[in-house]
Amino acid sequence: MNIAKDIFYVGVNDRQIDLFEGQYIVPNGMSYNSYAIVDEKIAIMDTVDAAFTEEWLGNIKTVLGDKKPDYLVIHHMEPDHSANIANFVNEYPEAKIVSSAKAFSMMKNFFGTDFSDRQIVVGGNDTLSLGRHELTFVTAPMVHWPEVIVSYDSTDKILFSADAFGKFGALDAEEDWACEARRYYIGIVGKYGAQVQLLLKKAAGLDIQTICPLHGPILSENLGYYLNLYNIWSSYQTETDGVVIAYTSVYGNTKKAALKLAEMLKAKGYPKVAVNDLARCDMAEAVEDAFRYGKIVLATTTYNGEIFPFMREFINHLTERNFQNKTVGIIENGSWAPLAAKVMKEMLEKSKNLTFTETTVKIMSALNAESSAQLETLADELCK
Ligand code: FEO
Repeated sequence: MNIAKDIFYVGVNDRQIDLFEGQYIVPNGMSYNSYAIVDEKIAIMDTVDAAFTEEWLGNIKTVLGDKKPDYLVIHHMEPDHSANIANFVNEYPEAKIVSSAKAFSMMKNFFGTDFSDRQIVVGGNDTLSLGRHELTFVTAPMVHWPEVIVSYDSTDKILFSADAFGKFGALDAEEDWACEARRYYIGIVGKYGAQVQLLLKKAAGLDIQTICPLHGPILSENLGYYLNLYNIWSSYQTETDGVVIAYTSVYGNTKKAALKLAEMLKAKGYPKVAVNDLARCDMAEAVEDAFRYGKIVLATTTYNGEIFPFMREFINHLTERNFQNKTVGIIENGSWAPLAAKVMKEMLEKSKNLTFTETTVKIMSALNAESSAQLETLADELCK
């Protein structure tokens, strides 16, 4: 696959993986992207996951033939991109490694050497000329590790964006970009909105015509669409006007309340209502929805003087990703001493700019006339 006249895709598709980064289900696999710039000097951009050494080295050979790379550029040290650095060095002992100072420290941790005999340290706007192409290296700390750099090829106006603008899914997966890019972004980079905003500001000063991320498709059309979504996500704005109802239920009574609220909202003409059973859905989808929509209702049972474990896990996922700027409604259930509302509010105490609805729905075991009326009031409040 040609990205430009002399830039080639040499990455791989992973259709075997069960959990990406040890936790995310990826029904359509993953791609680990790597690129070869074949100029007067040859640069390989990043490596791939450890399971694909032979395929990746084979892809490089197919593109280069008898030529040898001069540089291996490492934008990010997470092993899905860095695992084959030592294998590359064994294959191409003459090549230099181009990366950030922090990345070389991490190489020492991963490989027992920082490759000091072949290091080229780059960061704040350092450049590397390959002949026709000139690469400029820009730091992008915490997008989403501290050592990350991105690079810009001023000749073909390409941004090699590291994990930014990546998505779940192999390159041959036919699926909506935003759906799996959002789940990827919120799950993996979501905590680091401020750092992504800094990167977007740096990118705004560049004439970018193509984005080459480390995962997912190469983006070369309608870049404003992707940049706008990244701006929304990284500034924790509401992307879609809607309510997400996230619930756990032990015997089905809290579930009944959650579904009844969804029906009420739909009957009142609310444009979008998403419902997630936290014990059964993909937790990353539920987290994605929580950040996507402007309003959220948390419905759970009191359990061991606490809340049901899936809700605790869910709220932890939200708060550790800087959850903010939302309207929050609460439904609590408890047969003799309901505590869930108090516990959930305490868990969300440090989240910025949350507005709790005036109505909290209290269920004592099962919905009755009183709690049903509270649900109706909550639905009205959410529709305002
Ligand atoms: Fe795709 Fe942060 O590694």
